[in-house]
Amino acid sequence: HDLALPACILAYLLGAIPFGLILTRLTGAGDLRAIGSGNIGATNVLRTGRKGLAASTLLLDLLKGSVAVWLARAYAPGTEALVALAAVIGHCFPLWLRFKGGKGVATTMGVALGLGWPIGLAYAVVWLGMLALVRISSVGGMSAVVVAPLAALAIGRSDYALVLAVIAALVIFLHRANIARLLAGTEPKIGGKKNTSG
Ligand code: G3P
Repeated sequence: HDLALPACILAYLLGAIPFGLILTRLTGAGDLRAIGSGNIGATNVLRTGRKGLAASTLLLDLLKGSVAVWLARAYAPGTEALVALAAVIGHCFPLWLRFKGGKGVATTMGVALGLGWPIGLAYAVVWLGMLALVRISSVGGMSAVVVAPLAALAIGRSDYALVLAVIAALVIFLHRANIARLLAGTEPKIGGKKNTSG
C-alpha cells in the first residue's frame, strides 16, 4: 500500500503525544515520573489525586488511537491494522521521551474501538469488569488486551486479530514490573494509598 508508510508515521506521531505528562505539567499536578509507578498513563495521573486529570488523560490517550484508525480508514483505507499498531507503538515508545512512554492500555482501547465497535465493546466490558472485580489497573488492562484479538476473530477479522495479538504481547511485556508486583502481592489497588516504583 502506497500510503502505508506515511500513515504509520503520522499514527506514530499522534500516538506519541503524552497527554498524561502534558496535562500534569500544564496544571502543576506534579512530576509523573517521580510518583507511583513513574508511568505516564491515566492510572499514575490518578495517583496525583487529580481525578479529572486522570479521566482526561484516559480519554485523550484513548481518542488518539481511535482518531489514528479513523483517519486511516478515511484517507488510506487498508492501512487501519498497521496504523493501529503504529499508534500504540507511538504511545509506548515516544521519540521525545527517549522512547520511554506508557503501557498502552488506553490507546489500545482506542484503536480497538476504531477497528470495530464490537472489539471496542468487548475490550471495554472486560476492562471495566475486571477493574470492578479486582480494582487493580494493570490486571484490568492486561485482561482487556488479551480479549481484543479474540473479539476480532469473533467478527471474522483475522487481520485485525493478528495485529491486536502483537499489541497484546507488547502491552503485557510493558507490564512486567506490574506482573512482578502482582506475584509479590505488592501491586497497589486503585484508590489505595500505597506507592511503588517501576
Ligand atoms: O496502563 C497502565 C496500567 O495498566 C498500570 O499503570 O501506573 O499502575 O503501572 P501503573
